[in-house]
Amino acid sequence: MKTLDSAVRALRGTLVWFHDDPFVNDDAMRVVEDGIVAMAGGRIVASGPASEVLPALPPGVRPMSYGRSLILPGFVDAHIHYVQAQIVGSCGAQLLDWLDRYTFNAEQAFAEVLHSEAIARFFCDELLRHGTTTAVTFCAVYPQSVEAVFGEAERRNMRLIAGKVLMDRNAPAALTDTAQKGYDDSKTLLEKWHGRGRLLYAITPRFAGSSSPEQLEAAGALWREHPDAYLHSHLAENLAEVAWVRQLFPDALDYVDVYERYGLLGPRALYAHGIHLSERELGRLAATGTAIAHCPTSNLFLGSGLFRLHAARKHGIHVALGTDIGAGTSYSLLKTMGDAYKVAQLNGQTLTAAQAYYTATLGAARALRLDDRIGALEPGYEADLVVLDVAATPALQLRTRNADGVEDLLFALMILGDDRAVRATYIAGELAHDRDADAQPRRPEVDAARP
Ligand code: GUN
Ligand code: ZN
Repeated sequence: MKTLDSAVRALRGTLVWFHDDPFVNDDAMRVVEDGIVAMAGGRIVASGPASEVLPALPPGVRPMSYGRSLILPGFVDAHIHYVQAQIVGSCGAQLLDWLDRYTFNAEQAFAEVLHSEAIARFFCDELLRHGTTTAVTFCAVYPQSVEAVFGEAERRNMRLIAGKVLMDRNAPAALTDTAQKGYDDSKTLLEKWHGRGRLLYAITPRFAGSSSPEQLEAAGALWREHPDAYLHSHLAENLAEVAWVRQLFPDALDYVDVYERYGLLGPRALYAHGIHLSERELGRLAATGTAIAHCPTSNLFLGSGLFRLHAARKHGIHVALGTDIGAGTSYSLLKTMGDAYKVAQLNGQTLTAAQAYYTATLGAARALRLDDRIGALEPGYEADLVVLDVAATPALQLRTRNADGVEDLLFALMILGDDRAVRATYIAGELAHDRDADAQPRRPEVDAARP
């Protein structure tokens, strides 16, 4: 290996990433025990066994050693609503009632710039604490809610895909736009933010239930004008929703056909859920290169149903994982993988650790067509990393002491782990979350007040 120059930072630990798809290749995971990843200028410049990378490091560069911890590409949360952070864990409703009862109230607060900015800060902090380095988020209908979250992500140099929600019917008046205003506001935001630094824009019709045919048409027109932008929406999450969409669009063959008629399928189109889909619909998603964000904590919480991940992958559909905060119950992609495993079990199938971590890293990057930039620990990739502590809690410590190899460690982490297992998060080569340094100091006055 030739000697590395410029300002290099190096991390040492067990490196884990994917060079292929473990749904079709049993040997897709690359593991380097006692490895080093070296970074400079926001990118990975070398990765491999310490014995090879160490001699190539410039004199004076000493790797930060993470011991037994695992170093992976940062997690991708492919579907989240930052504007729903305050309603996580709201009891007692399935999708359509839950939207009416909780969501629409919470989103109206984002008309306020200061509120949007405060929640955007909280949101970015939470992503980093959970090892998430790329997120795809819904905003509210208000352009200022988009400005706030892009501004915050830009300050932190995070990769973020976001967009203003389009909604012109079946929602409170304060939350609706019109087909024309939604188009105009989205276009202005897209032209300002798409491709600025690490930020990308998603045209974001909420779902077929809350957009008129004219609005879906306008969304399709805007996407045709900017085909390198994203299209982000919801699809076939709940049986009552599916029945309602059939009534709203009686001429369409099915739910997927509603979106296809308006030109809303294709590469960089990303739909959350996709639980209640026919073979025909799965076939159309695959044929058009449309991706699904599987959101198991949300699907279990709202009682929406069991997504058939293996069936979708067999069709050739790109699938990523989403937390779907606030219907989802955790910001943690580890917990999301754990619930994806349980949903697969209820479908009578197994989700291996390799398949789960692929879906949260390189698989998601492929779904988002960003796999030339994120999702792997190869030279040239953006240096977004997560460091996972295999002994973060007493239960993990006991369980992992005699683990049977790295895949077993990964599995234990996705079943037992959460933010406590995220030891560090790096964004473009910079330390953005350091669990042990950021730990809240004990507050003696509070502790002393306890009986
Ligand atoms: N379908 C339409 N809007 C939403 C939303 O905000 N959350 C979820 N989970 N599903 C939706
Ligand atoms: Zn959602």
